[in-house]
Amino acid sequence: MNSPILQKARAYEAQHGPEIPAGQRPVYHLTPWVGWMNDPNGFCFYQGQYHLFYQYYPYKTVWGPMHWGHAVSRDLLHWEYLPAALAPDAPFDQDGCFSGSAAELPDGRQLLLYTSVCKQEQPDGEMREVQTQSVAVGDGLDYEKPFAAPVLDAKDLPEGWSRFDFRDPKIWQEPDGSYSAVIVGQGRAEGGAALLFRSADGFHWEYVTILDASRGEYGVMWECPDFFELDGKQVLMAGPMEMHARDEYHNGHCVIALIGSYDPVNHRFVRENVQLMDEGIDFYATQTLQAPDGRRIMTAWMQAWAGISDKPHGAKWFGQTICPRELHIRDGRIIQTPVRELDAAHGERVFHSNVPISGETSLEGIGGRVADLTLTVTPEAGCRTFTVKLAADAGHCTTLTYEPRTRRLTLDRSQAGFHQDIVHIRSCTVRGESETLSLRILLDRNSVEVFINGGEQTMTACIYTPQEADGITFAADGKALLTAEQYQLSF
Ligand code: FRU
Repeated sequence: MNSPILQKARAYEAQHGPEIPAGQRPVYHLTPWVGWMNDPNGFCFYQGQYHLFYQYYPYKTVWGPMHWGHAVSRDLLHWEYLPAALAPDAPFDQDGCFSGSAAELPDGRQLLLYTSVCKQEQPDGEMREVQTQSVAVGDGLDYEKPFAAPVLDAKDLPEGWSRFDFRDPKIWQEPDGSYSAVIVGQGRAEGGAALLFRSADGFHWEYVTILDASRGEYGVMWECPDFFELDGKQVLMAGPMEMHARDEYHNGHCVIALIGSYDPVNHRFVRENVQLMDEGIDFYATQTLQAPDGRRIMTAWMQAWAGISDKPHGAKWFGQTICPRELHIRDGRIIQTPVRELDAAHGERVFHSNVPISGETSLEGIGGRVADLTLTVTPEAGCRTFTVKLAADAGHCTTLTYEPRTRRLTLDRSQAGFHQDIVHIRSCTVRGESETLSLRILLDRNSVEVFINGGEQTMTACIYTPQEADGITFAADGKALLTAEQYQLSF
């Protein structure tokens, strides 16, 4: 039986979701049916299709008591909305159904494992949100909460671990049919940490070990963990909060991958390498799945918490997910490429080979706000900068500027049409020594995703620029040779 709180959300979204004109949404990036979206949740392949749930507040374009929105897709790009899956309607989750994940039960039902949030009065009289983990079970459409209490709470944690920072379970099934989950917690000495839990049936859980922890190095707390094997390595992914800027890491929230090895018998993860997952502005709360063909595919919230004050005026939705990315390991680092399903959307192709660029130039047929554009740039000796302007008209643009001498690539959306003084500029140092730079740029009305040198690095940002600003131009301070290949995308 659906609770009145869930029924109300379902009625609201069914009425107001269809009122949003298709032209006011991105084409192949998932947005909430109506209202607010943050983290992707429960990303999985279940009964023949991909499911993607999301942190959801249908009633306004601001964060509120968390529901789970729900959508399904056969190709990770065309999404169909389903009714909201979870609402904060149980005594143990009345203040929010926070992030979590999905797995299949032996009887074919779908299991959702999520963080249940409930405000409780503390000994000093303060009301604080206590975080526990709970389950819901369903058929891919309707879910019920089978227990009267959470399946994991602070009593299951080691001595001294916080009950206010214990969240975002990511579940997976082991080859023997049992289940494991990685959940973030906060220890006195460890700070943010990824904890491993196990369960024979998905319902009864026990603590196993600490997989890894920040220990002051990677933020104060972690969020949205994931733990999976990739090309012979083991990856622990998490979102550190409040990092200090150093090396490639910027201040605030980000996503890191800790890459190493794992001994599943002794549950020992040994970290070998740490990598920042995206060097742009809007990228957080990653979650991966393994596709039926074995690919490891990642989604994420294409938004920064620090930037949520800036929304397009009057829009009835806020928050998007990235274009899902395939992950691989090369030379000990994660490589990201857009899912190959995107190739099926390739329409008209425009190709310009080895065009000398000096002043600002546009190229016949290159432009638009929904496109898959690959640029190969070879700066000539003495070239100081090469610049691509995207989503440009007389009053707007988002630029990518490359400085060959320092290998710095800068994404700048400060003239993209935002109203607030939030982060608009980020730079990264392009890895390697190649003189040629390759940039694959995905445009989808309200976003730019840049895959550098085959996905060795990425930079992602939202742009709420008027759609009429659809110019793309190139310029060099000095000389560069440019090869440009653009596909229009049709869905
Ligand atoms: C990450 C996060 C999660 C939490 C959810 C709440 O963006 O803070 O840790 O479960 O959002 O909406």
